[in-house]
Amino acid sequence: MFVKEKNNTDSSNTIRIPAFVDMHVHLREPGQTHKETVFSGSRAAKAGGFSHILCMPNTSPVIDTPELVSYIRSREAAVSVLPAAAVTKGQQGKELTDFYALKKAGALAFSDDGSPVEDKNIMREAMYRAVENEVLIISHCEDKSLISSRLQSPPEAEYSAVLRDCELAENTGARLHIAHISTKESVDIIRNAKKKGAKITCETCPHYFSLTRDDFFRVGTNAMMNPPLRKEEDVVAIKEGLRDGTIDVISTDHAPHSVYEKNQAPEFAPFGIIGLETSFCVSYTFLVKSGIITFERLISLMSEKPKEILGIKSSSYVVVDINTEFIYDVSCSYSLSRNSPFDKQRFYGKILKTVLED
Ligand code: DOR
Ligand code: ZN
Repeated sequence: MFVKEKNNTDSSNTIRIPAFVDMHVHLREPGQTHKETVFSGSRAAKAGGFSHILCMPNTSPVIDTPELVSYIRSREAAVSVLPAAAVTKGQQGKELTDFYALKKAGALAFSDDGSPVEDKNIMREAMYRAVENEVLIISHCEDKSLISSRLQSPPEAEYSAVLRDCELAENTGARLHIAHISTKESVDIIRNAKKKGAKITCETCPHYFSLTRDDFFRVGTNAMMNPPLRKEEDVVAIKEGLRDGTIDVISTDHAPHSVYEKNQAPEFAPFGIIGLETSFCVSYTFLVKSGIITFERLISLMSEKPKEILGIKSSSYVVVDINTEFIYDVSCSYSLSRNSPFDKQRFYGKILKTVLED
């Protein structure tokens, strides 16, 4: 699975593993290029050990036409940047996009991520269309009717939407990937749906198994994202889901926002944190180093499974140092944004280089 890196004076510390694939990245091009561009985000991805990233369509304008899909693909990038296209036009939740044309232009998946597809009938239609066109839907599961305050999205707002979409996937036969799960109930629901044979996969993100909502009170708006940080019991369940295979993928939900916006009060600050350059070290430190999962399992979560889900073949690799503790410094990030909850923290698992091959 992984080999000790040769040509290195301290070969005991460095190993070579398959490069990672991130199924959930927000680049801010077009529209908010002061936060991130395809170029800056892809450089952060390469520094974080990724060979491929799937970028979400909630830009402005929303990626909902073949021209915009082609535009993203034409931008200069340091790794393979694969666009996801919107499920509904303008991500307004009303009218489906042209899945056929978007797939032809190179959209690798379909998602209204950032927002849920609130109307169940529209989501059912989307799943039927996904079956026809043999494409993947990535669902941002959030029932907004259950959220009374912007800062207190309850677990049921997530898991009731997970339940709805699992049932729709079972009934339509669609391939569904559930984004950024954070609650123990979501893990249970997906575990059961998989037992019934639905074509469902899911992801969580490093912050959902390394931080709790107490860290939001410690860190502030740079630990504020949607879905929010949860309780310790959720963290435990997420780790169990990662261990037992219920959770297929670790993605980052890399969501750059400006210092100016994040300096606002929590009531006004936007949701999201950057994560491309900390995904491996946080995952390695909190999951492998602490004995929750094996190194092989982490490679499955960050590389093999996302490649399988997206149909990517690649022999790109990364060289990592797993034995030397280091301090992450967000000011050195290639991202144009600085909204990380992990700044100045100690980790194991430093990316030394990412080598891109076919
Ligand atoms: O925290 C988040 N940030 N969650 C989302 O669903 C959207 C994302 C963003 O685009 O900033
Ligand atoms: Zn997202």
